[in-house]
Amino acid sequence: MSLDLDAANYTLSGLRPFPVAVTTVSHGRVNGLISLSAGAAAIVPEAPRVTIALTKYNMTHDMILESGVFVMHLLGNGPDLLQGSLDIIMGLGGSSGRDGGKISALRTKAGVTGSPILLDALSYVEGRVIVSLDAEESTIVLADVVGSERFSRGGRLNIGEAWGKLPKEWLEQYEHNHIPQLENARLRRGLPTGGSVQ
Ligand SMILES: Cc1cc2nc3c(=O)[nH]c(=O)nc-3n(C[C@H](O)[C@H](O)[C@H](O)COP(=O)(O)O)c2cc1C
Repeated sequence: MSLDLDAANYTLSGLRPFPVAVTTVSHGRVNGLISLSAGAAAIVPEAPRVTIALTKYNMTHDMILESGVFVMHLLGNGPDLLQGSLDIIMGLGGSSGRDGGKISALRTKAGVTGSPILLDALSYVEGRVIVSLDAEESTIVLADVVGSERFSRGGRLNIGEAWGKLPKEWLEQYEHNHIPQLENARLRRGLPTGGSVQ
Protein backbone atom coordinates (compact mmCIF):
# COMPACT_ATOMS: atom_id res chain seq x y z
CA MET A 1 0.00 0.00 0.00
CA SER A 2 1.24 3.50 -0.79
CA LEU A 3 1.04 6.47 1.55
CA ASP A 4 -1.96 8.62 0.57
CA LEU A 5 -1.40 11.85 2.53
CA ASP A 6 -4.96 13.07 1.93
CA ALA A 7 -6.28 9.82 3.40
CA ALA A 8 -3.84 9.99 6.31
CA ASN A 9 -4.70 13.59 7.17
CA TYR A 10 -8.43 12.91 6.76
CA THR A 11 -8.11 9.99 9.18
CA LEU A 12 -6.09 11.92 11.76
CA SER A 13 -7.58 15.42 11.70
CA GLY A 14 -10.25 16.32 14.22
CA LEU A 15 -9.71 13.25 16.38
CA ARG A 16 -9.49 15.50 19.43
CA PRO A 17 -12.12 18.20 18.92
CA PHE A 18 -11.77 20.11 22.18
CA PRO A 19 -9.16 22.85 22.50
CA VAL A 20 -7.66 23.02 25.97
CA ALA A 21 -5.78 25.81 27.69
CA VAL A 22 -2.55 24.57 29.26
CA THR A 23 -0.86 26.74 31.88
CA THR A 24 2.30 26.23 33.89
CA VAL A 25 4.81 27.88 36.21
CA SER A 26 8.58 27.59 36.13
CA HIS A 27 11.12 29.56 38.17
CA GLY A 28 8.30 31.87 39.27
CA ARG A 29 7.23 32.68 35.71
CA VAL A 30 3.78 31.74 34.43
CA ASN A 31 2.77 31.00 30.86
CA GLY A 32 0.45 28.88 28.77
CA LEU A 33 -0.77 27.80 25.35
CA ILE A 34 -3.76 26.30 23.57
CA SER A 35 -3.61 22.64 22.55
CA LEU A 36 -5.70 20.18 20.54
CA SER A 37 -3.58 17.22 21.60
CA ALA A 38 -4.74 16.57 25.17
CA GLY A 39 -6.29 13.26 26.10
CA ALA A 40 -7.16 10.94 28.96
CA ALA A 41 -4.37 8.44 29.55
CA ALA A 42 -5.48 5.97 32.22
CA ILE A 43 -8.35 3.52 32.67
CA VAL A 44 -8.26 3.67 36.47
CA PRO A 45 -10.98 6.18 37.47
CA GLU A 46 -9.55 6.79 40.94
CA ALA A 47 -6.10 7.63 39.55
CA PRO A 48 -6.61 9.65 36.35
CA ARG A 49 -3.78 10.61 34.01
CA VAL A 50 -3.55 13.08 31.17
CA THR A 51 -1.32 13.30 28.11
CA ILE A 52 -0.42 16.33 25.97
CA ALA A 53 1.89 16.75 22.96
CA LEU A 54 3.90 19.95 23.31
CA THR A 55 5.68 21.40 20.29
CA LYS A 56 9.32 22.14 21.11
CA TYR A 57 9.13 25.54 19.41
CA ASN A 58 6.75 26.76 22.13
CA MET A 59 7.96 28.36 25.35
CA THR A 60 5.40 26.42 27.40
CA HIS A 61 7.12 23.21 26.24
CA ASP A 62 10.40 24.19 27.90
CA MET A 63 8.68 25.45 31.03
CA ILE A 64 6.64 22.25 31.58
CA LEU A 65 9.73 20.10 31.06
CA GLU A 66 11.58 22.26 33.62
CA SER A 67 8.91 22.35 36.30
CA GLY A 68 7.01 19.11 35.60
CA VAL A 69 3.66 20.71 36.39
CA PHE A 70 0.73 22.13 34.43
CA VAL A 71 -3.00 22.73 34.43
CA MET A 72 -5.16 21.57 31.49
CA HIS A 73 -8.48 23.44 31.18
CA LEU A 74 -11.60 22.65 29.21
CA LEU A 75 -13.37 25.71 27.78
CA GLY A 76 -17.11 26.31 27.84
CA ASN A 77 -19.55 27.24 25.07
CA GLY A 78 -22.48 28.41 27.20
CA PRO A 79 -23.55 32.07 27.07
CA ASP A 80 -21.82 32.79 30.39
CA LEU A 81 -18.47 31.32 29.31
CA LEU A 82 -18.20 31.66 25.53
CA GLN A 83 -16.56 35.10 25.35
CA GLY A 84 -14.15 34.16 28.14
CA SER A 85 -13.26 30.98 26.23
CA LEU A 86 -12.52 32.96 23.06
CA ASP A 87 -10.44 35.43 25.09
CA ILE A 88 -8.42 32.53 26.53
CA ILE A 89 -7.83 31.04 23.06
CA MET A 90 -6.78 34.40 21.64
CA GLY A 91 -4.67 35.26 24.67
CA LEU A 92 -2.73 32.01 24.91
CA GLY A 93 -2.81 30.56 21.38
CA GLY A 94 -1.94 33.53 19.20
CA SER A 95 1.45 34.64 20.50
CA SER A 96 4.38 33.34 22.51
CA GLY A 97 5.20 34.11 26.12
CA ARG A 98 8.64 34.95 24.74
CA ASP A 99 7.08 38.12 23.30
CA GLY A 100 5.36 39.18 26.53
CA GLY A 101 3.39 37.83 29.46
CA LYS A 102 0.02 36.34 28.52
CA ILE A 103 -1.40 35.17 31.84
CA SER A 104 -1.75 38.54 33.59
CA ALA A 105 -4.70 39.48 31.34
CA LEU A 106 -6.65 36.41 32.59
CA ARG A 107 -8.37 35.77 35.94
CA THR A 108 -6.40 33.11 37.86
CA LYS A 109 -5.73 31.45 41.19
CA ALA A 110 -2.78 29.24 42.13
CA GLY A 111 -3.25 25.46 42.02
CA VAL A 112 -1.66 22.82 44.25
CA THR A 113 1.36 22.74 41.93
CA GLY A 114 1.59 26.54 41.88
CA SER A 115 0.44 26.64 38.25
CA PRO A 116 -2.16 29.28 37.40
CA ILE A 117 -5.76 28.04 37.20
CA LEU A 118 -7.93 29.98 34.76
CA LEU A 119 -11.11 30.96 36.58
CA ASP A 120 -13.06 31.52 33.34
CA ALA A 121 -12.55 27.92 32.19
CA LEU A 122 -15.27 25.25 32.36
CA SER A 123 -13.16 22.79 34.37
CA TYR A 124 -9.57 21.70 34.75
CA VAL A 125 -7.17 18.97 35.77
CA GLU A 126 -3.81 19.79 37.29
CA GLY A 127 -0.96 17.46 36.47
CA ARG A 128 2.49 16.37 37.64
CA VAL A 129 4.55 14.88 34.82
CA ILE A 130 5.63 11.29 35.43
CA VAL A 131 7.22 10.52 32.08
CA SER A 132 7.86 12.22 28.75
CA LEU A 133 8.62 10.99 25.26
CA ASP A 134 10.98 12.96 23.01
CA ALA A 135 9.36 12.97 19.57
CA GLU A 136 11.87 15.21 17.69
CA GLU A 137 9.43 18.04 16.84
CA SER A 138 7.57 17.71 20.13
CA THR A 139 7.54 16.11 23.56
CA ILE A 140 4.60 14.01 24.68
CA VAL A 141 4.08 14.33 28.43
CA LEU A 142 2.12 11.96 30.65
CA ALA A 143 1.02 13.29 34.02
CA ASP A 144 -0.78 12.15 37.14
CA VAL A 145 -3.84 14.27 37.86
CA VAL A 146 -3.24 15.83 41.29
CA GLY A 147 -6.03 18.42 41.34
CA SER A 148 -9.27 19.14 39.51
CA GLU A 149 -12.38 21.29 39.71
CA ARG A 150 -15.51 21.94 37.66
CA PHE A 151 -16.60 25.58 37.67
CA SER A 152 -19.75 25.31 35.54
CA ARG A 153 -22.30 22.78 34.24
CA GLY A 154 -22.33 24.22 30.70
CA GLY A 155 -21.19 22.51 27.48
CA ARG A 156 -17.65 22.14 26.11
CA LEU A 157 -16.44 24.41 23.32
CA ASN A 158 -15.27 22.43 20.29
CA ILE A 159 -12.73 23.76 17.84
CA GLY A 160 -15.16 24.03 14.91
CA GLU A 161 -17.41 26.31 16.95
CA ALA A 162 -14.40 28.33 18.13
CA TRP A 163 -12.96 28.80 14.60
CA GLY A 164 -16.37 30.11 13.49
CA LYS A 165 -16.49 32.73 16.26
CA LEU A 166 -12.87 33.95 16.45
CA PRO A 167 -12.24 37.30 14.72
CA LYS A 168 -10.77 37.13 11.18
CA GLU A 169 -7.76 39.31 12.18
CA TRP A 170 -6.87 36.94 14.99
CA LEU A 171 -7.14 33.88 12.71
CA GLU A 172 -4.77 35.58 10.24
CA GLN A 173 -2.32 36.32 13.04
CA TYR A 174 -2.53 32.70 14.20
CA GLU A 175 -1.84 31.39 10.65
CA HIS A 176 1.12 33.78 10.40
CA ASN A 177 2.58 32.59 13.73
CA HIS A 178 2.03 28.97 12.77
CA ILE A 179 4.45 29.09 9.80
CA PRO A 180 7.76 29.34 11.75
CA GLN A 181 6.47 26.70 14.18
CA LEU A 182 5.81 24.31 11.31
CA GLU A 183 9.16 25.02 9.67
CA ASN A 184 10.91 24.40 12.98
CA ALA A 185 9.10 21.06 13.31
CA ARG A 186 10.21 20.07 9.79
CA LEU A 187 13.81 20.96 10.61
CA ARG A 188 13.70 18.90 13.80
CA ARG A 189 12.31 15.93 11.80
CA GLY A 190 15.01 16.29 9.13
CA LEU A 191 12.35 17.09 6.50
CA PRO A 192 12.60 19.69 3.71
CA THR A 193 11.28 23.11 4.73
CA GLY A 194 8.97 25.37 2.70
CA GLY A 195 6.14 22.86 2.26
CA SER A 196 2.39 23.22 2.76
CA VAL A 197 1.05 25.09 5.81
CA GLN A 198 -2.20 23.05 5.90
C1 LIG B 1 -6.43 25.36 18.16
C2 LIG B 1 -4.96 25.34 18.52
C3 LIG B 1 -4.35 24.11 18.78
C4 LIG B 1 -3.01 24.03 19.14
N1 LIG B 1 -2.45 22.82 19.49
C5 LIG B 1 -1.19 22.78 19.98
C6 LIG B 1 -0.64 21.56 20.50
O1 LIG B 1 -1.28 20.51 20.52
N2 LIG B 1 0.63 21.59 21.01
C7 LIG B 1 1.37 22.74 21.03
O2 LIG B 1 2.51 22.71 21.52
N3 LIG B 1 0.89 23.92 20.54
C8 LIG B 1 -0.37 23.96 20.02
N4 LIG B 1 -0.90 25.14 19.55
C9 LIG B 1 -0.02 26.29 19.40
C10 LIG B 1 0.24 27.10 20.66
O3 LIG B 1 -0.93 27.30 21.42
C11 LIG B 1 0.83 28.46 20.25
O4 LIG B 1 1.95 28.28 19.42
C12 LIG B 1 1.22 29.34 21.43
O5 LIG B 1 1.33 30.67 20.96
C13 LIG B 1 2.53 28.93 22.10
O6 LIG B 1 2.82 29.86 23.12
P1 LIG B 1 4.16 29.78 24.02
O7 LIG B 1 5.35 29.97 23.11
O8 LIG B 1 4.00 30.91 25.00
O9 LIG B 1 4.18 28.44 24.68
C14 LIG B 1 -2.24 25.23 19.20
C15 LIG B 1 -2.86 26.47 18.95
C16 LIG B 1 -4.21 26.53 18.62
C17 LIG B 1 -4.86 27.88 18.39
